[in-house]
Amino acid sequence: MALRLADDAPNFTADTTEGEINWHEWIGDGWGVLFSHPADYTPVCTTELGQAAKLKDEFAKRNVKVAAVSVDPIEDHKGWSKDIEETQGCTMNFPIIADPDRKVAELYDMIHPNADATATVRSVFIVGPDKKIKLIITYPASCGRNFVELLRVIDSLQLTAVHKVATPVNWKDGEDCIVVPTLSDEEATGLFPKGFTKIKPYLRTTPQPNK
Ligand code: BEZ
Repeated sequence: MALRLADDAPNFTADTTEGEINWHEWIGDGWGVLFSHPADYTPVCTTELGQAAKLKDEFAKRNVKVAAVSVDPIEDHKGWSKDIEETQGCTMNFPIIADPDRKVAELYDMIHPNADATATVRSVFIVGPDKKIKLIITYPASCGRNFVELLRVIDSLQLTAVHKVATPVNWKDGEDCIVVPTLSDEEATGLFPKGFTKIKPYLRTTPQPNK
């Protein structure tokens, strides 16, 4: 069955460009991003993996580890990594999982047969420290992902995991948040010392609580 939000993120052991990893152990107490790409030596994927490598510090700042996966063998991943470094001006700094037997692809339902019978689509899974799935996005092969958006979602996930807020449309780190509707005004007054603005009874905003 397809994975859904808040499901347990399946664990696996796999060969990668950085040696064998056990997914859960490798994430440790932090967050994980697992993203699949259709194939090695393809143009859109080359730009995506380069971008992910360049964002290493941004992911590290948020205690997030990133791993890519496709059904190509490890030798292809290693050869292609050199091309990514050459063409994208980066140093590859995260593991690319080799999944020729489709173990990971099947665990995470990354092959969508009506799109492509054998290749993984562009899936993104964000996994929390509790090893639960926090976000799922699926893109077609023709559209490269927006990794800045993934960082934005991670900021929202990490904030809302510890504060009783939600984040509004197009929110970015540092901007006002929404007080969750389950809180009464009295509870909100106690929880948000900077106060809140009541636009409607169900629409209350407050400055980002951890800033
Ligand atoms: C690409 O990454 O460039 C790509 C992969 C599969 C189909 C189309 C494009």
